[in-house]
Amino acid sequence: MAANSTDKIESHMARIKARLVLPVIAAPMFLVSGPELVIAACKAGVIGSFPTLNARPIEVLEDWFQRIVRELELFRAAGGNPAPWAANLIVHRSNARADQDVALTLKYRPEIVITALGTPAGVVAAVHDYGGLVFADVNSVAYARKAAAAGADGLVLVASGAGGHTGPLNAFSFVPAVREFFDGPIILGGGIINGRGVRAAQMLGADFAYIGTRFIATIESMAPQAYKQMLVDCTEEDIICSSHFTGVAANYLKPSIIKAGIDPAQLGVRKEMKFDHRGDSAEAKAWKDIWAAGQGVRAITSVLSTADLVDELARDYAAAAPPV
Ligand SMILES: Cc1cc2nc3c(=O)[nH]c(=O)nc-3n(C[C@H](O)[C@H](O)[C@H](O)COP(=O)(O)O)c2cc1C
Repeated sequence: MAANSTDKIESHMARIKARLVLPVIAAPMFLVSGPELVIAACKAGVIGSFPTLNARPIEVLEDWFQRIVRELELFRAAGGNPAPWAANLIVHRSNARADQDVALTLKYRPEIVITALGTPAGVVAAVHDYGGLVFADVNSVAYARKAAAAGADGLVLVASGAGGHTGPLNAFSFVPAVREFFDGPIILGGGIINGRGVRAAQMLGADFAYIGTRFIATIESMAPQAYKQMLVDCTEEDIICSSHFTGVAANYLKPSIIKAGIDPAQLGVRKEMKFDHRGDSAEAKAWKDIWAAGQGVRAITSVLSTADLVDELARDYAAAAPPV
């Protein structure tokens, strides 16, 4: 039987939460999240994650896995209590590296595997076998139902306003709709930018906040300096949603599109979905020059270390505690 029991997931989640300073996953981001960001996030007390496709060629992925495991082990040996780390697998059929990435992920056994852009069905049993959890990234209630039926332990609900591939649904509608049929962990993403937003996610019925954009502007992220500065300079008015680049609606920074010589007013609708993130592919090139960000970007006023950012989030989260 591939699915974990509700009790088993609950007790696993309680153990994970006890290791966090606040219930946050630093969300996986293409060309942005690498081992430095993952290690810094886990040491600071939030779940760190990265898309396996960021490590190219495949040999680099093994090196990244080894670094993450080694650094967190050293931290533990020195008395630290790192948060879990998660590997993000793009399970869409156009990802030519999917099988290789799954095989290596199973070798290094991250506590959490986050699947995106397809069904988690192909990895659930194997991740459960080594004691890991599978969270499935979904952007509709229908996909949430499918992922739950496929045995996902947790559902990452990507609501509207998210950086990169965004969902169409407002968080206020999305979370309660999924809570009607799903008792497991819900991770809410989309425009969450501060500790108060993490509280709000919990008030809606989510267990964790999934924060991407805010972590791009950290010292440890792999984003170029100009991208980090653009986040500091931009507000929600600079965010544009388009399916032009990948065939799926995604939020981008308008100034980066203009800088790439493209008129944002002329963006078309692309029908074909393609997630071939090889270094030389058109998709990878688009993500390199066209920078994604969510609607919460206004709150980014400086580039911080991940540790300082997590401190700030934790202080804000504590200050936003509901009255008892
Ligand atoms: C630059 C960028 C790249 C992203 N790449 C991925 C990815 O490779 N895999 C994935 O599952 N989600 C990806 N996402 C989505 C994030 O994991 C997350 O859903 C989103 O950032 C949450 O919304 P926020 O940016 O408003 O916090 C990306 C987001 C951004 C901003």
